[in-house]
Amino acid sequence: MTSTQSIPSNIEVQAEAQTEVQALKHKHLLDLQDWTKDEFLQFFNTTDAMADVMKRTIKKVPALQGKTIATLFFENSTRTKLSFERAARAQSADVVSFAAGSSSLSKGESIKDTLLTIDAMQVDAYVVRHVSSGVPHQLTRWTDASIINAGDGRRSHPTQALLDAYTFRQEFNGFDDSGGFEGKKIAIVGDILHSRVARSNIKIWTELGAKVVLCGPRMLLPEELERKNVTLTNSVAEAVEGAHAVMALRMQQERMAGGLLPSLQEYSERYQVNDEMIKLAHDDCIVMHPGPMNREVEISSELADGERSVIEQQVANGVPVRMAVFYSLLVGK
Ligand code: CP
Repeated sequence: MTSTQSIPSNIEVQAEAQTEVQALKHKHLLDLQDWTKDEFLQFFNTTDAMADVMKRTIKKVPALQGKTIATLFFENSTRTKLSFERAARAQSADVVSFAAGSSSLSKGESIKDTLLTIDAMQVDAYVVRHVSSGVPHQLTRWTDASIINAGDGRRSHPTQALLDAYTFRQEFNGFDDSGGFEGKKIAIVGDILHSRVARSNIKIWTELGAKVVLCGPRMLLPEELERKNVTLTNSVAEAVEGAHAVMALRMQQERMAGGLLPSLQEYSERYQVNDEMIKLAHDDCIVMHPGPMNREVEISSELADGERSVIEQQVANGVPVRMAVFYSLLVGK
């Protein structure tokens, strides 16, 4: 992070003090691997400025006026796609939206030709989701625009992890300069094997000083993750005990080739995060889920809709987090 810049105010709030925000040091956001603790904390400060914009009567600033964002979703999405588009429009960017199912991919056009076609329309940044790991990285070779990873295979989902950690910080920050993460325990329970959310969250929470416990059936809990300074367990009780945050992950049936689980019912009997389990957690424990949820499979409805749940807050925070990403990549240089 090297420079600061002010968010231009909109007409309604001309008189308001402008807010200093930090710039991302990179052209792209592909993953979080080389982010430092200070960079995460600075990014959250930028997100605070964007969250203030979203509290205004007119939720729009001209920061990205004249910029065009393309959302390239080769895999389905509800919250990530809409949230990126909301974030772009809140900063006055133009948005062009590509959906694989209704595109010329079905006529045999390649991903590269698809990108070059959209690139000819003068795009400044692409938000990319693909079922295959590494596609966002590959696209950086074919365009001068910024590439933002909106989830690639089981590898990375950086903005999801940023919004998850930002949500935790909102709940636990207090007066703590470390963001409130130091010494806290987060349990991530579910299909860790196929989860890009888990991989990105491991990076951010460990970098910020939290203890991460991963929990799931043996077949869905890859042992190599032990190298990432996390604890693995097959016991939900052990994972949840004393936890400040419990994140349930979706059973990713679309990625589960080879019958890794006997049945979803058996899974929910042993691994569901529910009221009974959460009694073992810290008194202030929050319940998280990146969505989409399979209610009564990985999480009980009672808990998902209960007072500990911050699941809707996670979705809400997706907008300022993604605004901060756009701003940092496209403006704050
Ligand atoms: N959390 C998440 O990535 O949700 P979507 O698949 O709906 O974008």
